Amino acid sequence: MSTTKKKIARWNDGMEYKRLGKTREKISAIGIGTWKMGVEPKREAEAIRAAVERGVNLVDTAEMYGTEHIVREALDGYDNVFVATKVSPSHFRHDDLIRACNASLERLGVREIDLYQLHWPNNSIPIKETMQAMEELVKQGKIRHIGVSNFSLSELKEAQAALKSNEIVSEQVEYSILVREPEHGLLDYCKKERITLIAYSPLARGAIFEKKYNALQMRLEGIGSKYKKSASQVALNWLIRKEPVVAIPKAGNVEHAIENAEAASFRLSEQDLKEVNGFL
Ligand SMILES: NC(=O)c1ccc[n+]([C@@H]2O[C@H](COP(=O)([O-])OP(=O)(O)OC[C@H]3O[C@@H](n4cnc5c(N)ncnc54)[C@H](OP(=O)(O)O)[C@@H]3O)[C@@H](O)[C@H]2O)c1
Repeated sequence: MSTTKKKIARWNDGMEYKRLGKTREKISAIGIGTWKMGVEPKREAEAIRAAVERGVNLVDTAEMYGTEHIVREALDGYDNVFVATKVSPSHFRHDDLIRACNASLERLGVREIDLYQLHWPNNSIPIKETMQAMEELVKQGKIRHIGVSNFSLSELKEAQAALKSNEIVSEQVEYSILVREPEHGLLDYCKKERITLIAYSPLARGAIFEKKYNALQMRLEGIGSKYKKSASQVALNWLIRKEPVVAIPKAGNVEHAIENAEAASFRLSEQDLKEVNGFL
């Protein structure tokens, strides 16, 4: 890490910020994901920095992705970026989880992880044991907030009940124009309980740019032309207009990172939101 810290302006005019769960923490409505980075780490680190320069303060990684070192390199010299990582289900036993967290701290080069998420549920390990370890990490100041990922509504409730003195601040699930599962109960529950819903694969892993979704893309472009925005920006804006949703598109280059960050700088009208809702 460099010794001269550059303070990043947390607020950027073109970005929208939302509260993380019930906390006072504000995270950008558009974050950046890092799954499948590692192809060209220098270019990808540049993409992360370009996003941060445009107000993105949420960077998502996981021990499983093998990208924590890229996040470290990208954020060297930056303050105030909220780093979210995940522990793998194979490490949900108490001692394994503590070890996994220490290893992530080391790879990220930080003293504290902002958001530590259980990557997938693991029904073979009691959630109480896992959450006890998570709460110990909070107490020790190694993690600031606890989140889950890929938990069903009932698993989320069970996970919440297993915590003694903390609350789950976020649930990370797949959500995009093409994948609408969260709309069947989870989204409403998160809104009611003020749990941030972190939408992963918000561009359907790039599928919306494939030939077979040409018609969808043209409709998104049609709407985007009214705002001078692209199809991907409309797809992302449609997601973040929903509460309590933030989206974490992965961008492997500066151009995509900037385009995605700028998806927060406009508001789709109610009529256009309804139209996009009806696309599936
Ligand atoms: N919790 C979980 O289990 C889980 C699972 C999957 C993903 N995630 C998280 O969510 C993040 C995002 O999901 P994802 O990576 O699956 O898919 P995604 O963000 O929906 O899509 C990424 C794909 O879209 C392309 N892309 C990005 N911005 C673009 C733009 N403006 N124009 C055209 N193409 C664009 C990317 O290409 P380039 O790479 O060339 O930019 C990449 O091929 C992951 O990186 C990860 O952090 C979490």
